Amino acid sequence: MIEQEPDKKLIEKVILLFNKKKYLEALDLSNNIINKYPNSILINNISGVIHTELKNYTLARDLFIKVVNLNPRYNDGFYNLANIYNKIGEEDNAIKNYEKVIELDKSYYKAYNNLGNIFRKRNLNKKALSYYIITLNINPNYIRGYYNLAGVLQHFILDEKNKYINKFLLYLLEKKIIVRPNAIAKNVINGLFFNSNLKDILSLIDGKEYQKNLNEIIEELNKNKLLLQFMKVCPIPNYYFEKNFIKIRHEILNQIYNSSFKKIHLKFLISLSTQCFLNEYVYSVTDEEIFKINKINERIKKNINTKKINDLEILILSCYSPLYSFDWCQKLNPSNELEEVFLLQYKNYNEEKKHTQKIKSITGVNDSISIKVKNQYEENPYPRWTNLGLSIEPRVMKEVIEDINLDIDFTKISFSKKTEILIAGCGTGQHAITTASKYKNANILALDLSFNSLGYAKRKAKELNCKNINFIQGDLLDLRKLNKKFDIIESVGVLHHMADPLIGWKCLSECLKKDALMLIGLYSEKARKNIAEIREKINSLKIKTSKKNIINFRKDIFEKDNNKWDSIKNSPDFYSTSGVRDLLFHVQEQRFTIKQIRSHMNKLGLVFLGFEDTYVLEMFKKSYNQSNDLYNLDKWEEFEINNSRIFSGMYQFWCKKFN
Ligand SMILES: C[S@@+](CC[C@H](N)C(=O)[O-])C[C@H]1O[C@@H](n2cnc3c(N)ncnc32)[C@H](O)[C@@H]1O
Repeated sequence: MIEQEPDKKLIEKVILLFNKKKYLEALDLSNNIINKYPNSILINNISGVIHTELKNYTLARDLFIKVVNLNPRYNDGFYNLANIYNKIGEEDNAIKNYEKVIELDKSYYKAYNNLGNIFRKRNLNKKALSYYIITLNINPNYIRGYYNLAGVLQHFILDEKNKYINKFLLYLLEKKIIVRPNAIAKNVINGLFFNSNLKDILSLIDGKEYQKNLNEIIEELNKNKLLLQFMKVCPIPNYYFEKNFIKIRHEILNQIYNSSFKKIHLKFLISLSTQCFLNEYVYSVTDEEIFKINKINERIKKNINTKKINDLEILILSCYSPLYSFDWCQKLNPSNELEEVFLLQYKNYNEEKKHTQKIKSITGVNDSISIKVKNQYEENPYPRWTNLGLSIEPRVMKEVIEDINLDIDFTKISFSKKTEILIAGCGTGQHAITTASKYKNANILALDLSFNSLGYAKRKAKELNCKNINFIQGDLLDLRKLNKKFDIIESVGVLHHMADPLIGWKCLSECLKKDALMLIGLYSEKARKNIAEIREKINSLKIKTSKKNIINFRKDIFEKDNNKWDSIKNSPDFYSTSGVRDLLFHVQEQRFTIKQIRSHMNKLGLVFLGFEDTYVLEMFKKSYNQSNDLYNLDKWEEFEINNSRIFSGMYQFWCKKFN
């Protein structure tokens, strides 16, 4: 009698070849085995996997169908079949087969995860969310599940109680490299309101007995892990929080020497201090507070050499001004409890200064606008970020670019072995580090005008162990002096701050290698209409750029209930000093229409290859379903007319030189 399954050793041989990526050899061997054992479930399944890798999807599908017919209880077979249907766009069949997998094994978390992905693609975000939550409840260590959860939370607003979500939100905020906290901040706020007692606690602050209840309020807030972590990772973009934190801060200051004010409150104060540091002390302060703060400062100054300083005193000061701004801080020997704030507000600052001194420059900055822009970012490096979303694993340039779905004929493009990438206007490094995580075998040169931004960027790159970025200071107008060409140039949020963006763009184009690609990000006239109006108002009122004016201007916008400016209150940038400066007080800003972008590209001999933002692309595809529409700027113009805020995150698009 012929056995159904071949010897285990033969199967292992095929797997070994597969693992070594010798797919064709693996296929030859598996075909030989199939000839002898045509009904072997194992080898038909492996052969399907090899065909999947070789992109022979129809063959793979037929093999997996054979496998599940041979054994209708084989969940891996159904899972592979579902994945193939998913790949070839037969989503309904994919759903059916993932459901079959789950019917056979309720703990098959990857099947739930992939169902979540399909629903997310269909914009059924609530359903997708529930599948990701099941996935993570089964396997809380499944990193891809967290990435997917973070993805769905960026484009969908939680609108009801959910007993699991807060623990996963906490996880997302604790990890350094899964998601930018700002991107999910709205849902963290909703998670806090729906699933914790925060609103009840904060409502006590409006009560008459508030001062007396301060201890109780802080004790309750201390129990809210998600809130405390949230305060440590980004400025919380919500005025209700801001108003309450301002009141709490004031009351803690009043009671700082009150003997009933307890040491356990350190925990909350550390979060509050971090929140104030991250928003660059954008909260308004009364004269009475300034008076009290000055007194505490004087006391510490006097006692720093002789007496032990109370941690609470130091922490409350750090809620009003960064520790590095106090002279006595260099003499401070922080307690264990203070170490975290000391690192953030003193050591990091000094580390950045050291990095700054070692950064090389192309040459001095001469352009008058570039000088002004440089000064702005020296004073307020932007954005001041903590965590970010990095790629799970780096891939070679071809694979990364294939995924973006650009208008490129890959047969006509040659890719270099080592990808040379320029990030022009890298700011504080978020952009450069994100790009570095995507590409394998890449060298990244990250350029910016501002030394202080570069110091921040270098510190963060070191913290995240990102070793392939070289930071350099200079004006992108002087790039030719480097005498270097790149495979990829990315410049997002930069050209529109130049005196003549077209000249800047030309300087970038001249540094492209043959076949190289360029990613550009420019402000949209339409999406920033209300910002332009506010900027005009600021100009007409002749409000000078200063910290005090920024604080007062914000206060007016919040308190004089002007609906016209409501959208500005939704911008995360409105909740930090450097953010407001970048958003409303920038020394130089231009905005673009799609027509102008097209005209600039024509002048520079560039072709449009497609937009970058996957959310924008999905929205576009709902109205325009021909695949070529994606690359047709007339259609995009039409689309923006009907969706005026769609490019509020800038036009971000790829282009390359005409060949
Ligand atoms: C809004 S930030 C954006 C930073 C970064 N691209 C990001 O997306 O996080 C703009 C940055 O562009 C830099 N910049 C503006 N004009 C520049 C120029 N002519 N040459 C080099 N950098 C420039 C500024 O110094 C600033 O750090």
